[in-house]
Amino acid sequence: MDPTQKFKIITVVGARPNFMKAAPIIAAIGDHNARLAVSPGPGGAGEFRFSLQNVLVHTGQHYDEVMSDRFFADLNIPKPDVHLGVGSGSHAAQTAEIMKRFEEVLLRERPDVLVVVGDVNSTLACALVTAKISFDDQGTRPLIAHVEAGLRSFDRGMPEEINRILTDHVADLLFVTEQSGLRNLCKEGIPDGKVHFVGNTMIDSLLAFKAKADSSDILDRLSLRNGNGGHKATDETARYALLTLHRPSNVDQRATFLNILEGLEELSNTYPVIFPAHPRTQKRLAEFGLERFFETGNTSHADGRIRLVEPLGYLDFLCLMGHAAVVVTDSGGIQEETTCLGIPCVTVRENTERPVTVRVGTNILAGTSKEGIRQATRQQLASKVSAAVPEAWDGKSAQRILDVICREIEKKRSLERS
Ligand code: UD1
Repeated sequence: MDPTQKFKIITVVGARPNFMKAAPIIAAIGDHNARLAVSPGPGGAGEFRFSLQNVLVHTGQHYDEVMSDRFFADLNIPKPDVHLGVGSGSHAAQTAEIMKRFEEVLLRERPDVLVVVGDVNSTLACALVTAKISFDDQGTRPLIAHVEAGLRSFDRGMPEEINRILTDHVADLLFVTEQSGLRNLCKEGIPDGKVHFVGNTMIDSLLAFKAKADSSDILDRLSLRNGNGGHKATDETARYALLTLHRPSNVDQRATFLNILEGLEELSNTYPVIFPAHPRTQKRLAEFGLERFFETGNTSHADGRIRLVEPLGYLDFLCLMGHAAVVVTDSGGIQEETTCLGIPCVTVRENTERPVTVRVGTNILAGTSKEGIRQATRQQLASKVSAAVPEAWDGKSAQRILDVICREIEKKRSLERS
């Protein structure tokens, strides 16, 4: 293949959990081009002697400084080439708006490959547009690569589950993070040849940025150094818990939200609980009159209230996770990050699409009952967890993904020529 040839990839990001999954892939594309520039002859850029242009598209599903912009700085992601600026809306309105705006971009850019990550509305919207696009009368369209394919909670009440299933079924290349994903895709009849077990790009980011995160000053900013947090741990840091909650099923009904907060009272009476609250959650707790459970000040832990803080950037959050006695969450990604960090995690959900975090990791599914949360939290605080890091969560997943993509580009081009 001609080493001066250039192929185009569109990588899509839209919402907070996309940024740390896409960042290593964008970096791997940059590394590929850098290797080719240094050694353009045979052997340059591994076996693939062509360059790659990445067009980064941000849908704007998340748009705040705290939900989006900060992550670009923290994760060294370049400024998006295209910003669709869709903002919030109902699922239908948001998905439809992304589709309309993304179709124009696709027709203009005519990439060889689309890369979508995770399970948010942006993931499905862009995959669906690409599955139906045609650049010519032969129906030429980009290959669709789905990163984090195959995860299933088996709960179709979750919008993310619908996004996962549909994206997987229109994708050409399915990149899987854990063994359960391989089984799920096989049961759904996805041909083996499309499926690639590569590990977890979110863990690539964690490993790449852990040292930098450790030098964050967030523990000082939240007065969690010894002597200020109220409950001393053995090292220089106070013993504290970290909480995140944002699933519609947990925070959109007053009774469920209240129940969870009551389940957390024992924990917050014992240790400081730091709660960087998602905008959805902040809106709900005000609307439901649940402010009595929270305080917004910076130092006291006298009355057992949960410390509400603004959503944090990637490095600050990673630092807080890494020093927490326990993390209580309903997020998907945090279950994986805590497994890798060896930090006990209590998941406030009835199910998880990431069973490896329970099987070999540090995660316990607590459900959403008061007693379930109390028991799981007690158990995790007492545990001396030692997590085994799941297979291939080794910091090299993005490179594996890029190797497969390059191989497929070569295949597709030689088929088109024949
Ligand atoms: C989305 C994803 C979810 C992911 C979560 C992480 C879907 C279906 N859901 O849920 O999988 O775990 O992001 O954060 O794609 N808002 C702001 N500022 C922002 C973004 C949102 O204030 O930058 C507000 C919106 O106005 C809305 C609420 O947050 O009221 C929810 O935002 P939305 O993007 O609809 O879904 P998330 O709950 O964030």
